[in-house]
Amino acid sequence: MNITVVGTGYVGLVTAAVFAHLGNQVCGLDIDRKKIKTLTAGKIPFYEPGLQDLVKKTINNGNLKFCDDYKTAIPQAEIIFICVGTPPKINGDYDLKYVFDAAKAIAKSIKKYTLIVIKSTVPPSTGGKLQEIIKKQTRIPFDIASCPEFLREGCAVADSFHPSRIVIGTGSWKAKELLLKLHQPLEAPRVLCDVASAQLIKYAANAFLATKISFINSIALLCDKIGADILKVSEGLGLDPRIGRSFLNAGLGYGGSCFPKDIWALISFAARQDYDFDFLKKVDQINKAQIDYFIQKIKDVFVGNLKGKTLTLLGLSFKPGTDDLREARSLLVIDKLLKIGAKLRATDPVAIPAARRLKLGVELFQNPYEALTGAHALLLITEWSAYLTLDYLKIKKLMRDPVIIDGRNFLPAYELKKIGFIYRGIGTK
Ligand SMILES: NC(=O)c1ccc[n+]([C@@H]2O[C@H](COP(=O)([O-])OP(=O)(O)OC[C@H]3O[C@@H](n4cnc5c(N)ncnc54)[C@H](O)[C@@H]3O)[C@@H](O)[C@H]2O)c1
Repeated sequence: MNITVVGTGYVGLVTAAVFAHLGNQVCGLDIDRKKIKTLTAGKIPFYEPGLQDLVKKTINNGNLKFCDDYKTAIPQAEIIFICVGTPPKINGDYDLKYVFDAAKAIAKSIKKYTLIVIKSTVPPSTGGKLQEIIKKQTRIPFDIASCPEFLREGCAVADSFHPSRIVIGTGSWKAKELLLKLHQPLEAPRVLCDVASAQLIKYAANAFLATKISFINSIALLCDKIGADILKVSEGLGLDPRIGRSFLNAGLGYGGSCFPKDIWALISFAARQDYDFDFLKKVDQINKAQIDYFIQKIKDVFVGNLKGKTLTLLGLSFKPGTDDLREARSLLVIDKLLKIGAKLRATDPVAIPAARRLKLGVELFQNPYEALTGAHALLLITEWSAYLTLDYLKIKKLMRDPVIIDGRNFLPAYELKKIGFIYRGIGTK
């Protein structure tokens, strides 16, 4: 099939490469000319395991190309995926500017019946709005559908080849048939529904996962108060098949480009439907409070005085496997610690170049041992597996004080204490 993917970010680029690999003719379209130049050269502008090879392979076999011009990329497409960003406004409300801009530009360039599929995460009223916007610009027949994306950064390629489910939301029989045909090589349960339900599935999924995280963080606080161990509580809780173990890791809370913004968007969307989503507001509030809780743990060790203390962050990206710093917990920790006068250093296996671009006011190191030399405390922020195999005896000698505050309950607490570290986790003994 002939496909155009509008927006070649984390979702769009993976979508384009995967459909190209499955034998379709795919064009990745983006308004960012620099990005298109990089992609055309077979390079990818962010870190995502396996994606570079897939992009190169599909460019070389002639199935994938890139372009920055709607007039070239749109007319021949049978199916267009909108994968542009939906970042939040400063007040947390959703901003659909990029989606609407893309829809207007698509409408001006379609020449024959086209199926326009929204993959970006958008509120459930967006399908109707796109229909209106496009109808105003063209008389050419088109359908709107929604295929929300569930990939996870860090394993996006594997997730796209082996999705947990394929949600197809549309009111059109023709659109449904086209999307079933396109997804035919992918093995996964299909959920066929209307556009609004498809979009609500995506919001509800992220809201539910965020809820699990805030729930376990609340239980962790209780563990700290009574001397219980959240690791054991999570283990015992997660073995209940009705609950499951995933997303029950206490720590610094959720970040990233999706959970925070989607939770805020769902709260805003609900308010527009006259529903006060109080419950989700609490989930968000608990998540925000985890940063202060973590900082209090550091203060407790140094009896409140962090001014002039050198603290080293291990990990900057919002989770392991990516260099994405959008809404990363590290940024909030850095902001608060700089305000109270701490000297900060940081290291990350892949996110140092992205962090340099943000000018965080933090000394950045590729090498964790260098980052930890002379530090008063190690702050574990992102649970990169490489941090499990560091030489902690060597690190203890390099550090000024043997203090570890583990924001993810990730490092081996027992062993670290045994070699003389003062170790604090979130809800752990
Ligand atoms: N990143 C994830 O893990 C993930 C997972 C599931 C869903 N989503 C959702 O998918 C959407 C895209 O997310 P992302 O992380 O890929 O975003 P991103 O910021 O990485 O990429 C968006 C791309 O869209 C391009 N763009 C913006 N306006 C455009 C226009 N008018 N025409 C063409 N290109 C345009 C930008 O230049 C950018 O390259 C969001 O709605 C997000 O919530 C993201």
